[in-house]
Amino acid sequence: MIRSDYRRRGHHLLALLAIAVILLLPTATVTVEDTDSSSIISRFQEYLRINTAHPGPNYNEAADFIASQAKSLSLDFQILEFVKGKPLVLLKWAGKNPALPSVLLNSHTDVVPAEPHKWDHPPFQAHIDPSSGHIYARGSQDMKCVGLQYLEAIRKLQASGFRPLRTVYLSFVPDEEIGGNDGVGKFANSEIFKNMNVAIILDEGLASPADNYRVFYAERCPWWLVIKATGAPGHGAKLYDNTAMENLLKSIESVRRFRAVQFDMVKAGLKAEGEVISVNMVFLKAGTPSPTGFVMNLQPSEAQAGFDIRVPPTADVASLERRIGEEWAPATRNMTFEFKQRASTYDKFGKPILTAFDGSNPWWALLEDAIKNASGKLGKPEIFPASTDARYFRELGLPAIGFSPMANTPILLHDHNEFLSKNEYLRGIDIYESIIKAYASYAEPVKDEASRAEL
Ligand SMILES: *[C@@H]1O[C@H](CO)[C@@H](O)[C@H](O)[C@H]1NC(C)=O
Ligand SMILES: *[C@@H]1O[C@H](CO)[C@@H](O)[C@H](O)[C@H]1NC(C)=O
Ligand SMILES: [Zn+2]
Repeated sequence: MIRSDYRRRGHHLLALLAIAVILLLPTATVTVEDTDSSSIISRFQEYLRINTAHPGPNYNEAADFIASQAKSLSLDFQILEFVKGKPLVLLKWAGKNPALPSVLLNSHTDVVPAEPHKWDHPPFQAHIDPSSGHIYARGSQDMKCVGLQYLEAIRKLQASGFRPLRTVYLSFVPDEEIGGNDGVGKFANSEIFKNMNVAIILDEGLASPADNYRVFYAERCPWWLVIKATGAPGHGAKLYDNTAMENLLKSIESVRRFRAVQFDMVKAGLKAEGEVISVNMVFLKAGTPSPTGFVMNLQPSEAQAGFDIRVPPTADVASLERRIGEEWAPATRNMTFEFKQRASTYDKFGKPILTAFDGSNPWWALLEDAIKNASGKLGKPEIFPASTDARYFRELGLPAIGFSPMANTPILLHDHNEFLSKNEYLRGIDIYESIIKAYASYAEPVKDEASRAEL
């Protein structure tokens, strides 16, 4: 209803603000039945069965499902459409002291596509293997698990009579898997978000094959680089200097040496994957087309190559820039370069785009303690090797922690046969119960954006 109302009025943000809010009267009460593990698992299966895979995610069904969960928990919710057809569901568990900055639990509702014939069980059936307890589904790790674990943890906290001091928000966002521009990108920069006065965001992490959980304080920034070489064309039989191909190959050799040095540090265990600059060649474009393929006796006058570079916010960016200009695409070799994308390694205050995990960030210590209290083990803080929605929040200078409670689990995001075991899923709910309780009870005031800007 909300959505159709809104559609009729077009997609102006103001209209959205005016009408997209529903307040539900608290009527439902949580019963013991709702929190037993078989109903918890059924709800997870229900969410996993909604096919939200790109390129045609069924966002409306997912939004309706989340809305039904919100109702069962008597949480206020709104369905926002910053972009038509891409609903973002925002839930609110009001705190006793609404003046305190809030906590935001974020998760994305979309998943990457799956190739069903390469799976042992259909990717949107949420089949449970009776002996192992593995729940097979696209999104079981990335990240429908987390979204529902937040809700189940709240269900348990409500059943125990807990009431939050701070307001807790939950956002179920679209489009993370295709860059997040129309999802968190719009949300994080909206008036709605500003008015939420968020102090800390939890977002996704990665599974851990060991018995400790992984936790992320930053992520690498994608730089998509295209280098171009030009040179005099000539006969394929002639040896001469400064051809486009030769000039490009010199660059490729230089990139490969750099890549090997970075990779060697990972192989030697000196640096984690997220701590080095990765560079992979993703395309090569050259040659003069002919009806049968390429002209074989002509050296082309142009050649280009594309690279996916991932830069940790802790890297020496100036030295990388120099390397690109002087070694990978030097003008002296008739080369040019451009970035298809170049994410900044700094937030809007000019600081490296990362979340502190020292004493300056009380949320970090709270998270560690809360996990310990729930008898979970936490690994060393890491930099996420790829991108998540957390970057949109960190860009605003807000602390965002990447965490998905999956230990003893192979990393299967985006892979065939993605699964999460029932027990690990249930355990994760206990972990979130402890974290949400700690965060929602935390009474210390936290510095707001203005005072952070002054530092
Ligand atoms: C650069 O291009 C010019 C003009 O085509 C050519 O004369 C020169 O040899 C080229 N230099 C190199 C290093 O490729
Ligand atoms: C951890 O447990 C101790 C003892 O029950 C409690 O005092 C503390 O507040 C808990 N900390 C967190 C972050 O949950
Ligand atoms: Zn994800």
